[in-house]
Amino acid sequence: MSHFIFFLEIIRPKALLYLSAVEEPIQLEPQKTPGERIMYCDLKVFSGNSNKGLAQEICRQLDIPLSKLDISRFSNDNLFVQVKENVREKDIFVIQSFSRPVSHHILELLITLDAMRSASAKRITAVVPYYSYARSDKKDAPRISIAGRLMADLLKTAGANRVLTMDLHADSVHGFFSIPVDHLTAIPIICDHFQRRFDISNTVVVATDAGGAKRAGRFAQKMNTSMAIIDKRRISDTDVVQGLVVGDVKGKDAIIFDDEISTGGTLTTSVKTLEKAGVRKIFVGATHPVLSGPAVKNLKDASIEEIVVTDTVEIPDNKKMEQLKVLSVGPLFAEAIKRIHSGESVGALFR
Ligand code: R5P
Repeated sequence: MSHFIFFLEIIRPKALLYLSAVEEPIQLEPQKTPGERIMYCDLKVFSGNSNKGLAQEICRQLDIPLSKLDISRFSNDNLFVQVKENVREKDIFVIQSFSRPVSHHILELLITLDAMRSASAKRITAVVPYYSYARSDKKDAPRISIAGRLMADLLKTAGANRVLTMDLHADSVHGFFSIPVDHLTAIPIICDHFQRRFDISNTVVVATDAGGAKRAGRFAQKMNTSMAIIDKRRISDTDVVQGLVVGDVKGKDAIIFDDEISTGGTLTTSVKTLEKAGVRKIFVGATHPVLSGPAVKNLKDASIEEIVVTDTVEIPDNKKMEQLKVLSVGPLFAEAIKRIHSGESVGALFR
């Protein structure tokens, strides 16, 4: 008997330890404090250097502080990233757009993801509001890389368990990822702006080429307007030519809708094409304001009433123009993060 009691004494602490390890729930659900302020117990949001403004806005919406990262360079130019807070068993979101300098920002993200994984994060979501390599989505010349696919592989290899992004250049890019992707769209935000500010009773939504027709079609449907498509051929990275406009645009106001504005070449050519076709006023809606090279000069000189973009890409002060209206996607990203964290549907946001 005394042997049996001795055995129980030995086994009990281990059994308790085992039970507590099994039974303790992992807290992913937001907890409400008595003051109704939602506390996301195991949720942490970090940001690389590409778009701190958006990251701050997302955290403001979530009512949590932006967690701390130390990103610096060694004297040999290698990047150094250190996570400055405990992330063990936490649900981690790292915000980084693939904006200029693109390669540098991608590397910052990859090293940060790897650091999170090494620090025993429970789940890591790469939040990439602008995934620039989505434009490299097909093999349209010999001996080239489909780099959009390569970047997707790199994110997973570095430690991302899932990706949250917005308005990929082509829907098919979603399929490049072998981890779950939540693909948001800014269409409702941009649409709401136009509907509130302008009389859209005589408006047509215009796609700048056949490739963007599906996207513009979704926007037109949300706006409840007709649509038209311009026949565009890309000659090089910076030059495009356009011809025919398919659809009824004469005497109407036009909203050119695109995923991104890079050099502005597509837009300025589209404006000329639409003017020739007899449109009245021209507006622009686009998710990603990349604004590279001559974009600002091109767009300032074009007859465009308003260019509505979002803050997926940070716009430096010297590129801010009078016609530019920037809408924040921060609230939408915050809501998506909240839903991913608590296991709610993200798709339901767009139904
Ligand atoms: C191209 O297919 C995209 O949808 C955009 O039209 C393009 O990225 C805009 O580039 P850019 O402003 O340099 O013409």
